[in-house]
Amino acid sequence: MLTRIRSEAREPGGGSEAGGTLRFTFDGREMTGRAGDSVAAALLAGGVLRFRDSAVAGAPRGPFCLMGVCFECLVEIDGQGNCQACMVPLAEGMTVRSQSGGPQVVAPAAGRRAPGQGETT
Ligand code: FES
Repeated sequence: MLTRIRSEAREPGGGSEAGGTLRFTFDGREMTGRAGDSVAAALLAGGVLRFRDSAVAGAPRGPFCLMGVCFECLVEIDGQGNCQACMVPLAEGMTVRSQSGGPQVVAPAAGRRAPGQGETT
């Protein structure tokens, strides 16, 4: 299991230059992170390894690169889907949810045009 490197162990005198503790939820579970953490860092420090399921096979996925390249860390943050957890700073009161499957595609109702379909002349 991943564990957070404690700054007290690295800094003489046990001081911490990190900010305060921030509360957030992940799939309804109350969690805490540190100011300055990314959402991904806070989730990993809290023991969360599954951030989403793959769209086709439903395989569990979690952060890989932690620098915004692989898109394996996609989560829903405060109702906004497909957020890269490794690129979003943690904020007090965030509601984070895991994602399952592919993006939702809503078919236009019968007789209506899909977005982007203009008039044909
Ligand atoms: S972990 Fe790779 S983009 Fe977030």
